[in-house]
Amino acid sequence: MCGIVGYTGEKNCVPILMNGLTSLAYRGYDSAGVAVWDGSDLVLRKAKGKIENLKDLLEASPVSGKSGIGHTRWATHGEPSDVNAHPHTDSHKTLAIVHNGIIENYQHIKSMLVKNGCVFVSETDTEVVAQLLGYYYRGNAFATLKQALAMLEGSFALAIIFADDPETIYCTCKDSPMVVGHGNGESIVASDIPALLEYTRDVCFVQDRQIAILRKSGIEFYDEFGAEIEKETLHVDWDIESAKKGNYEHFMMKEICEEPDAFRKTYDQYVAKDFTLKSDRFPWDEARAKALDRITIVSCGTAFHAGMLGKKFIEHMAKLRVDVDIASEFRYGDLLIDKGEAFMVISQSGETADTIAALRKAKELGCDTMAVCNVTGSTISREANHVLYTYAGPEIAVAATKSYLTQIIVLYLCALDLAQKRGEMTQAQVTERLKEMSKLPAAMQKVLDNKEQIQFFASRSFAVKHVFFIGRGMDYALAMEAALKLKEISYIHSEAYAAGELKHGTIALIEEGSLVVALATQPELQAKVASNMEEVRVRGAHVLAVTNGPWEGAAGHSHEQWQIDQMDATLAPLCAIIPMQLLAYYLAVQKGCSVDQPRNLAKSVTVE
Ligand code: M6R
Repeated sequence: MCGIVGYTGEKNCVPILMNGLTSLAYRGYDSAGVAVWDGSDLVLRKAKGKIENLKDLLEASPVSGKSGIGHTRWATHGEPSDVNAHPHTDSHKTLAIVHNGIIENYQHIKSMLVKNGCVFVSETDTEVVAQLLGYYYRGNAFATLKQALAMLEGSFALAIIFADDPETIYCTCKDSPMVVGHGNGESIVASDIPALLEYTRDVCFVQDRQIAILRKSGIEFYDEFGAEIEKETLHVDWDIESAKKGNYEHFMMKEICEEPDAFRKTYDQYVAKDFTLKSDRFPWDEARAKALDRITIVSCGTAFHAGMLGKKFIEHMAKLRVDVDIASEFRYGDLLIDKGEAFMVISQSGETADTIAALRKAKELGCDTMAVCNVTGSTISREANHVLYTYAGPEIAVAATKSYLTQIIVLYLCALDLAQKRGEMTQAQVTERLKEMSKLPAAMQKVLDNKEQIQFFASRSFAVKHVFFIGRGMDYALAMEAALKLKEISYIHSEAYAAGELKHGTIALIEEGSLVVALATQPELQAKVASNMEEVRVRGAHVLAVTNGPWEGAAGHSHEQWQIDQMDATLAPLCAIIPMQLLAYYLAVQKGCSVDQPRNLAKSVTVE
């Protein structure tokens, strides 16, 4: 989705803004622009398309100055175009503004402004905010912002420069992330942490309807009533390199290759050196774990698929019922959930609008809320009662890979902890499993070291039109994620089916040349999956089997077999996801797709 960056200090802000916009590009966008105070005027440069177009424009018509704001826009109101790109100004160029989110009552405000003589040049809801501020402005930026803020409905993060006070940046937000930091004689704002990392590691998240006023000397914060407040600073320990591509061609490949390391980092946070769980890291003590009747898990996209696998882990090991729902369905459904119930959201970014809304609903209902989240200080991590952090580090590619892995690790460890506290597993059994789990990074590395096998397969298969991922039990949950990964970056039609469900309809789609990936990592279900593989093989499908160690039966029912190291069946999905991510990656590369920024998608979905 859109990205914001703003700078005020002693340096020329243009390279800083461009650098920031580049580091936010992963969020997805279709135009970009900057507004720079050049010493006498607010100068705008905006271009449809890639940031390179804006760079070209800035080369052709250079501008420089010590304060400015920049934006990458992902179109919602009005097509992607130069004129709809941000920043926007009011008719008198009193100010320039950039905006993330959606102003829901913009039509109403626009009618009022048009009646009062405002002439609009763009189709955006953002220009409505610019004109509204310009309409009320009488020389006091803070008072004007408060007045306008009281009228705005929807979600927004706003950064504004007033021409009367051009070295100050006014920022505010609601339901849309905004983070600020002060470095050596400079202040910077962005919609996401990576844009700040080169300047400071000590950041503050602006919260709903708070106002941050950035000057080169420091940052002031005000609450929604206009009272000055102190804000806690959060130290971000992500290293800058982890948010850069290094020698990799794509962030996605870099992030897949980082998975063994992300595994260790996450595992070490929850597991002690003697292979026992750090039981106080989990949001339930023994009495509470025993008293639980169910956990409801709500999330979106890949995080939803992590929830589906988490359900299998928890139900199987802890014998506790888990209901999983998609956040956008949950929030508008009949909320059959009671006060005090355990309610978990999963979100890499911690900023997904539907997941935040679901979390808030659950809090209103008095649930005991917890979050599995990758970003410290994000809205979800601030608002949930308990946070189980994942330690994936920054994930830049739109396709979630290492974040999914770390989510399922945390869910697996939750299942073990619940199982032990509920008396379903002994301490010794848990330790045994944790020891085996600690060998997973080596098994993952083996898959990565043999990735050329997958690359070769992709080079032969990229023309395929339909791919079906089938599996049973945990493999079915894994299949859902494998199918999403493939479709979102390669645009190849792919679906996940519970293997036993094929013959109830979907098998009609199988034809000569369809690719069926049979996930068969669960030994006790292999015989059943074998029949399903056979059903599609005899109907012309090309069958690829993914197995947990050697499985003799596979060869008779499939054309190709990929093996991960033999391991406990419950652990196998944690390793088997890697070949699936690599398959999606290589097919997308073969097809020449924009792997890190697939069409129409955004990294962080901050609108409904
Ligand atoms: O930041 P979140 O984990 O809340 O994001 C949820 C989904 O938007 C996200 O997983 C999306 O499905 C990914 N693009 C999948 O790769």
